[in-house]
Amino acid sequence: MSPSVVTTESSHDVITDGNDSAAALLTVDAIDVHYGPIQALRAVSLTIGSGERVALVGANGAGKTTTLRAISGLLAPTRGRITFDGEPIGGMAANKVVQRGIAHLPEGRELFFGLSVEENLRAGFWSQRRAGRAYKSQRDQVMDHFPILRERAHQAAGTLSGGEQQMLGVARALMSNPRLLIVDELSLGLAPKIVSQLFDILAEINRAGTAVLIVEQFVHMALANTDRAAVLAKGEVVLAGPSRDLLADPQLIATYLGEQAPKPDEPPRRPSRRAPKRTSNRT
Ligand SMILES: Nc1ncnc2c1ncn2[C@@H]1O[C@H](COP(=O)(O)OP(=O)(O)O)[C@@H](O)[C@H]1O
Ligand SMILES: [Mg+2]
Repeated sequence: MSPSVVTTESSHDVITDGNDSAAALLTVDAIDVHYGPIQALRAVSLTIGSGERVALVGANGAGKTTTLRAISGLLAPTRGRITFDGEPIGGMAANKVVQRGIAHLPEGRELFFGLSVEENLRAGFWSQRRAGRAYKSQRDQVMDHFPILRERAHQAAGTLSGGEQQMLGVARALMSNPRLLIVDELSLGLAPKIVSQLFDILAEINRAGTAVLIVEQFVHMALANTDRAAVLAKGEVVLAGPSRDLLADPQLIATYLGEQAPKPDEPPRRPSRRAPKRTSNRT
C-alpha cells in the first residue's frame, strides 16, 4: 500500500494531508445523512482548500450524490457539521447556499431543454441579480470558456449535443459566480474524448480561481485531473489522499471500486464466457 494514502477506520481528519483545515474553503465534518429510516452517509468528512480540485469516487450507491446534495443544501445532515468559508451551512436552504458561493451541477444536468442557451444562462444568474452584478459581463466572462455556446446562444438547449449540454450545465452553474463548483457525474452518457475536453475546461475554470469538487465514474480520469480524492464505500470515506497516490495504486482502486473503474479508453468488461453453467441437479 502506498504510504501516503491514508486508510482509515474512523473518518475524522482523513483528508487533511497537506491541507490546513483551518484555511479550508469547505469542511465537511463527520456528517450522517438519512433518507427516512435509511442511513446513506456515516461520519463522512472531507475538506476542500481554496482553489483546489477534489474528486469523490465510489461504486454505484456509495453515497456520492447524497454527499453533494448535503453540501449544496438539498439534504440536511442528521449529524455533523458543514462549514463554508468559516460559516456553518449544514441544513441551510439550497438558495442560500448558492448565494454563499457554492454552485451544484446535478446528475443529469437538469437544463431547461425547451429554452435557449442564453435563457438557461439567465436562469443561472438569479442569485447574482440580487447581489447587483451585471448580467452581460458575467455571461461574457462565462462564455469565454465555451466559444461553442456563444455560437449557439439562441438555440434550444434540447437541440445541443450531449457534450454541449454538459458545457451548458457547467456554464449555467458558473453564472452564479461560485467559489466552489460541484459537478455530479461529469461524464454521464458522454464519449471519453468529450469528457476529456470537459476536464480541460474545468482545469481552466479552476486556474481562474474556482475550487472544484467532482463526482465521476471514470475514476482514472477523475484522479488524473484532481489534486486530492476521497473514496466512498457504503456511505463511508474509506480512503483519501493525493489523487496521484491513489492513481498509482490499482490494487486500492480494484478493492473499493471494482468494475466501476474503467480506464477512459477501455470498454467496460463483459461477463466471462467461460463462467460455469448453473447446474440444477443438486438437492
Ligand atoms: N431518495 C432516496 N430515498 C431513499 N434512499 C435513497 C435515496 N437516494 C439515494 N438513496 C440511497 O442512498 C444510498 C446512496 O445513494 P447515492 O448517494 O445516490 O449514491 P451514488 O451517487 O454514490 O451512486 C444508496 O443506497 C441509495 O439507494
Ligand atoms: Mg450518484
